[in-house]
Amino acid sequence: MIREILVYPNKKLKLISKAVTSFDGGLHDLLDDMYETMCASNGVGLASIQVGVDMRVLIINIPIEVAEGEHDQPKENTIEMINPTILFKDGSELFQEGCLSIPGVYEEIERANHIKVDYYDRFGTKQTIEDESFLAIAIQHEIDHLDGKVFIEKLSYIKRKKFEKEWKRKLKEG
Ligand code: CO
Repeated sequence: MIREILVYPNKKLKLISKAVTSFDGGLHDLLDDMYETMCASNGVGLASIQVGVDMRVLIINIPIEVAEGEHDQPKENTIEMINPTILFKDGSELFQEGCLSIPGVYEEIERANHIKVDYYDRFGTKQTIEDESFLAIAIQHEIDHLDGKVFIEKLSYIKRKKFEKEWKRKLKEG
C-alpha cells in the first residue's frame, strides 16, 4: 500500500524516532509499504518518519541498469535497516542530494564518503555494511531523518535562507 509522504516543514519530520523492539508483521507491512511508496515517487531511500511512523526504520534501493538507459529497483535489492548505528565514518565528499519530503530540490551536501554501519534486518538479525560509494551517502541521509534532521539543514546560512524563501513560495503556489 502506498502511504502519504510528509512534506517539509511538517513538524513530524523533526521527531527523534524510537528504536524498534518487535520484528513482527506490523514492521514487515511498514517495510513493504515503504518500498512501494518510495518506488512510486522514484526515490532511492525512505525513512519511516517520512510516512509518519517515528521508528528507527529506513530503506535504500539504488537503481541498477537493466538495459541501456533503463533502470530498475528490484525489491530483493532493497536494504532494510532497523535501529542502525554508525560505527565509524571518515573522508568527505560533496554530493548532490534530494529528498522525497522536499520534492524537486537538489543541493550539494558534504558528508563522509566511507562508513561502517550496524543494523538489524526485518527478522531481527544483526547485519553490518561497510561502504565507500553512493550507498554511504544515502545511509547518512536516511539516518539523519531518524534523528529529526533533513538535508537542507546542512546548507550554509545564506543557501538555507534562499531555500526557505523559495520553498515558501513553492508551497503557496501549490
Ligand atoms: Co530524505
